[in-house]
Formats: sequence, C-alpha cells, structure tokens
Amino acid sequence: MTRRITMPALLTLAAITIAAPAAAQDDLANRPKTQVVAKGTSPDGRITVTVALDGEGRASYAVARDGRAILTDSRLGFLFTDAPKIDRGLALAGTARDRADTTWRQPWGEWETIRDRHNELTVRFREAARLKREIGVTFRIFDDGVGFRYTLPAQANLKQANIAGELTEFAFAEPGTAWWKPAYLWNREEYRYRKTPLDGVGTAQTVMTVKLASGTHVAIHEAALVDYAAMNLRRSDRPNAFIADLTPGSAAASVSRAAGFSTPWRTIAIADDAAGLYAASRIGLNLNEPNKLGDTSSWIRPGKFVGVWWNMITGKWTWSRGPRHGATTANVKHYIDFAAANGIPGVLVEGWNVGWDGDWFGNGKDMQFDQPTEDFDAAELQRYAKSKGVYLIGHNETGGSASHYDAQLDRAFKYAQDHGIPVVKTGYVTDAGQIERTDADGSQHREWHEGQWMVNHYARVVETAAKYHVSIDSHEPVKDTGLRRTWPNWVAREGGRGMEYMSWQDKNPPEHEANLVFTQLLGGPMDFTPGIVSLKGSDDSDIPSTLAKQLANYVVIYSPVVMVADTPEAYAQYPATLPFLRAVPTDWSDTRVLNGEVGDYATVARRKKGSDEWFLGSVGDEEARSFTVALDFLDPGRAYTAEIYRDGPGADYRTAARHAMTVETKTVRRGDQLTIALAPGGGQAIRFVPVGKAARKR
Ligand code: NOJ
Ligand code: CA
Repeated sequence: MTRRITMPALLTLAAITIAAPAAAQDDLANRPKTQVVAKGTSPDGRITVTVALDGEGRASYAVARDGRAILTDSRLGFLFTDAPKIDRGLALAGTARDRADTTWRQPWGEWETIRDRHNELTVRFREAARLKREIGVTFRIFDDGVGFRYTLPAQANLKQANIAGELTEFAFAEPGTAWWKPAYLWNREEYRYRKTPLDGVGTAQTVMTVKLASGTHVAIHEAALVDYAAMNLRRSDRPNAFIADLTPGSAAASVSRAAGFSTPWRTIAIADDAAGLYAASRIGLNLNEPNKLGDTSSWIRPGKFVGVWWNMITGKWTWSRGPRHGATTANVKHYIDFAAANGIPGVLVEGWNVGWDGDWFGNGKDMQFDQPTEDFDAAELQRYAKSKGVYLIGHNETGGSASHYDAQLDRAFKYAQDHGIPVVKTGYVTDAGQIERTDADGSQHREWHEGQWMVNHYARVVETAAKYHVSIDSHEPVKDTGLRRTWPNWVAREGGRGMEYMSWQDKNPPEHEANLVFTQLLGGPMDFTPGIVSLKGSDDSDIPSTLAKQLANYVVIYSPVVMVADTPEAYAQYPATLPFLRAVPTDWSDTRVLNGEVGDYATVARRKKGSDEWFLGSVGDEEARSFTVALDFLDPGRAYTAEIYRDGPGADYRTAARHAMTVETKTVRRGDQLTIALAPGGGQAIRFVPVGKAARKR
C-alpha cells in the first residue's frame, strides 16, 4: 500500500519570517535576532525540527523530542574550493511539505516488511545579495529520528559544485557518552570502539552512538551515500558539537559534481534506550531509493557458508601458491563435503586465482580475476559442488588497486556467473588513503576508501555484478549507508573488526559484539565470520570468548551471508555446536532487540523467514551478568521447545573453561520469563521450535 500526499497545510508553519539580508558589518547592535523560519514534526508529534536564520542570515536546524532539545541550533552550509562559501546572507526562499506512509518489502533482511511513515519539510534558502545562489534542505521526520539532505539546484552561479567541505553541524544539547571509532587512521574502519564523553571524541567515523545525560540514545550516521564523499564527525569549538567532515579526494575538492543533485541524508536516530536504536536505524533504509534490480529471488541467495579461510588467517595455509597453498582442488572438495553434510549452501574460496604470489598487500596489480591457479581445477570443483548441492563463493582481492579491478569487472563477474558462483567477496587491503586510481589519461592518484571516487567505484562493482547475477560482500568497504535497499545484491560488508582479529595479537575485547550491535550494525549487515569453535587463533593463541558466545553471534550480528568460519576438523572436535549451526538461518521476517547497553550486552530475538521458529542470541562483555527476558515474541497459545546453548559451569573467556557449554531443552510459552546467565566474555543462543515440529531434524 503506497500513499503519498502533498499536503502543505498539514504541519504548522511557525512564525514564517523572511529574515533580513546580512546585517551591515558596522551595525552590530541592531543586527536582527535569530528567527525561526519553519518547523516540522514527526507523525506522532514527539519530534520537532526547527529551522532558523540568525542575524547574519546563517541557516541552522534544531531537533527536540517531547519538548526537550536533542540538537540545538546546528549550522547548515557549504564550502567550495573555487567559489565563496554558502553560509551568511541567506534568506528564506520558500518551504514545501509532504508526508508518506508506505510499507515496503525487503528481499532479505532483519524484517520482511518495513514501514516508512514520515513528515517532510523542505526549506529553500537564497543568498540575498551578490551571487543569489539557492540551496534546499529537506527534512524527513520519523517517529524515531530525522534525516535531512541538501539539494544544490543547477543555477547561473552554481553550475559545478566543487565542495571543499560542509558546514553542517550536530550540536548536542547536553553532555553525553559517545561510542565511536577514529577516522583517517591507517587501518581504515578496523578500530576498537572507544567510550568517551562527547567532548573527548576526536574525529569519529559514523555510526557514532551517543547516550545523552538524560538517558536518550542518539545515533548519527548517513543514508544513501551515492556519488559523494563519506561523512565523518569532527569536534567543533562549541561544547558537545560536531561538524560533518567530508573524506578528502585526490583533488582539492572532496566532492565534485555538476549542480542539480541532492547530498546523502544525514541521519539522527533517536530512542529511549540502546535497544530502541536498533529499530530506529530503519530510518536509514527508508531514506534510500527503492530496489532497482526488480525480482532478485532467483539469484540473490542469503545463506551460510564455510570456506578455505580460517587456516589462512591463522597462518597454517597461504593464499599464494606453494607447499601450504590453501585453495587447492583437494582442500576445496573437503570443505564442499563438510558443507553438504551439514546443509550449508556455500563454500568460500580465497587464493584461488593468479596474483597472490608477490607482495599483494597494497598492490593487486598481478591479480587476475578469471585465472585460477593450476592446482585449483575450477571446472571440476564446479561440477563437484553442484553434484553435492553446494555453490562456491568467489573472492576478488584487489590489494587496493581499484582501477586494475575496474578494468576487469565484466570479466570477473562473467567468470563467476559461468562457474555457478552467486556471491563474490571483494577486498581492498591497503592502508587508508592508499587506493590506487589510474585515470583514462594514464594519470595516477591515491584515494581514500571512503572518498567520492571510491564510493563510485564500489557502486560500479555492485552494479556490474548485478548484470551477471552476482552478489557482493565487500571487505575493506565504504561504510554501509543502507544501499542494500537500492541494490539488494550488495549483501554484506566487513567494515569493522571481524572475527579475524581474534586470531591475531591485538584481539577484540569481550565487549566488542555488544558495541557493534549498537554502532556499526545500525548501518547494515556485517560479514563478521563467527563460529570459531576451537577458540584458537594464530600461534595457538586463546580466543577471549566462550563457546556459547560463538553461537549467539549468529543471531546477534546480522548478515544475509554468514560464515561458519572454523575448519571441519574444529567442528568435529566440538560437535555439540553443530545442531545450532545447521539450524540457524540468515534471513528473518522479524527482529526484536530485547535488551542491551552499548558495549555491555545485547539480546536479540529473530523469527526465521517463512517459519514459526524463533532464535535468540545474547552476548555480554567481560563481566558475568544475569537477567530475565519475557518471551513475549512467541505466538500466543502454543508451546515451544527451547533448545538452549548456554555458558556451562565455570565458563570464562580467560580460562580453559571457555569451552564449557551446557545444551538443554525446555518447554516454554509466550509470557514466560527466561533467565539468561552470561559468563565473563560469554553468550547464549536459543532455538525455539513450536512443539510438534521439534522432532524435525536436518
Ligand atoms: C582481509 C579480509 O578481511 C579477509 O577476510 C581476507 O581473507 C583477507 N583480507 C585477504 O583478502
Ligand atoms: Ca563494557
């Protein structure tokens, strides 16, 4: 059902005042005061956006909920490399209003349907003197947050926008605690989350999550990042205030585009608590354009996968050819057998192609994405996989040589399609700011992973892949801004510290997953690669997790493509994990975050798509913790068998008891309270099967 009505009279337009042109610089005393020029509210009336012009004609917006300020007057405007900024001297040129209440279907996701109910307010400003340039700002006000974007119309004095930066501010009205990771450091998006007062934030990537002193939770991010530079948040001189910081490009301007476009949406999700932020994050999907690919059900395949991977991450095997080469025909067959035996549809192959033998880190110029190594028999593996009802997942590591990859895209995805490969994992392993770009004229440039040029590169990859019915799981990606709605073949990304860090020296802290749920995962799915049941990384190092937490991650960390990342040998050693790993799906019709505190714990319940089964995952941090959850999500009037995988006696991420796991079943009903006890570094996973179906075994 789609309903979209233009109804200018619907919202109260408070005190529309045409502000005077910029006051003469010598008449400070008589400068006019800040005037509210427009006001909009959310459909439920709780959230208010107020747009104002100050005495110098500078535009700002503010956001309040239930009459309490969340963001105070926050600046709007642009800096250009080749023109005066758009900032002072603006006058109101007009306002427009709209509203929508639509419900749309996700081809895959955390929720089968999503409702988009918002009121829209567009405010146009024009410079009162000199260049008379015009900009528009459109606010969409939802019951659980606000999105706004600029429109730069094509006009006489603004034909080409060479944007040096934005003046956009997010000025929090009160102090608070922020969870954030730093921007512009060499390791891109792969930093631990920091918890600091708002005024202790440096330059942060988004999603940045904030708990205000009043308890209200806010997440700042962006939606529909297309042909623009990604936004980071730089602290301004005002207390608790941030400025949108656009990722640079190799040229002077961060963004260069012909005028006549809208920027990405800047999003402000608002909730009473951390758990509420997860549902509020749907504003990001609602602000993206609808699916451009039509019916993709025949070729986009959500599902789990195993693969030739962890043994390379731990150093036992290599991506390159030689005595320890991982992706050999025999090794891949072994993983195909394991996948088939456990009903897992995908097998990832890495290091299958020519180009890994040299120094590939930061240099992918030797990579050939349609040339297997001689010990990888592609035709035979395609045949063998098919005979077992399994498909291969491909891998294209560019080493950051993005132009080299651009030149091969059609070949790479045709190769995938011809070999029955429905998903390709991509990689851009190089330091931040070191992406290799070569233009048609042969000129060489270095780009950031999150700059405009790379934003466009990732889009080219996804669009080209779609032509060949291939889905993309980008590693070292640009952050997720909800583009999966528009291109549902962009199934997942890494974009943070995944499980691989648990193999290496600088391991993820126990609170990492409870940070991710309320930060990065508000942006979209993450290819986290859970399920390392050996709890062993490189050099036989211990992984600071419990076994039950490895299972819980399958419910807590959403992605439509999820790796069962350990080796067949490890699963043989811990067979108690297998019934859950076989049963847990990767596509859901409903999701409820039952409780959580950022960085402390999170409990998520999800209903399997097309099924009556529910799954629950709960993860904690380094502290032991116990709480009850109400099983209110279950259908009324029926009994369920709860298959519970919980931390066993003495389980602790610091000791050999990290493997202690108790598996038990209980009969439960809607309305029951379930006590969940998490060990230090622990977790819990539960499958709820309606009674009568419990006997169904895979
Ligand atoms: C880093 C990725 O995160 C990992 O999954 C991949 O195996 C390596 N790069 C090699 O491409
Ligand atoms: Ca914590």
